[in-house]
Amino acid sequence: MIAILGAGSLGRLWAASLPPGRAAFVPRPGASSDSIPYQFHPVSGEAFSVDIPQLGSDETPELLLVTTKAGDTLDALHSALPNIPANTPVVLFQNGLGSQQQVADTWPGRPILAASTTEGANRPAPDVAVHAGKGATWVGALTRTAESRLPSVVDQLSESGLTVHAETDILPRLWQKLVINAGINPFTALLDCPNGEILEAPLFRQWITPLCEEIASLMAGAGQDRIPPDELRGNIETVARSTATNTSSMRADILAGRRTEIEYINGYLVRLGDTLDIATPVNRMLTERVQLLNH
Ligand code: PAF
Repeated sequence: MIAILGAGSLGRLWAASLPPGRAAFVPRPGASSDSIPYQFHPVSGEAFSVDIPQLGSDETPELLLVTTKAGDTLDALHSALPNIPANTPVVLFQNGLGSQQQVADTWPGRPILAASTTEGANRPAPDVAVHAGKGATWVGALTRTAESRLPSVVDQLSESGLTVHAETDILPRLWQKLVINAGINPFTALLDCPNGEILEAPLFRQWITPLCEEIASLMAGAGQDRIPPDELRGNIETVARSTATNTSSMRADILAGRRTEIEYINGYLVRLGDTLDIATPVNRMLTERVQLLNH
């Protein structure tokens, strides 16, 4: 059994893609233990119904996928892990950076892995999950004991039919995605527009170059490869164009009245800048302005 903690759009994508009977959601404390039925719309082909059971207290999963929001992850794992064997690999799917390291530092003896995915998923209604765009998923070890588990984790995830790759160093992948999220998500939330519309907006055009300069300095300071700010900007604009009609996860959070992941995206970059003594006025401005949208 593959257990999934977090029944949002990404959790539902994995649950519906794994072979029938293979996935179960981890029940939230105090929530009902009923199975979770929903309609799943694959990228191509007809929509179908799935009914995913919740993990029974006597069941021991071989793998735990954690698809909670970055800010909910530590609390969710504090509740769930006492019932999960200490040698069960845990794969973290959170956006941004910061939450993965918190988990690895809290449970250093467990096999903890991180995943970076470009699969697109959304949830237009509570009981509907949509696989909006086909991508790929890279998985790598965060703790020492996870290293030997990587090949079997990739095999188990591949049972879904989704494309999964093993990655010896997952951090550069997490950074690549962080750059895209830091350059798209806050602008879509502040401008309340789909991804493609930020490209012509004065707010984006004014701040994207200084933002990319900050990120390039932070990456170099954090020991990542130095990527020229123009290249970072090009990567951000390419993704904004290729996902032009999408509502970003941050805009969707604001529209639904949920807490955003800004603390783990631009907010993470601000904290990193404080640690490395690198000024981050643009990341700070974007973080503070998005935080105000939540009030
Ligand atoms: O967070 C998101 O919504 C996505 O990662 C991205 C790339 C911004 C596309 O919508």
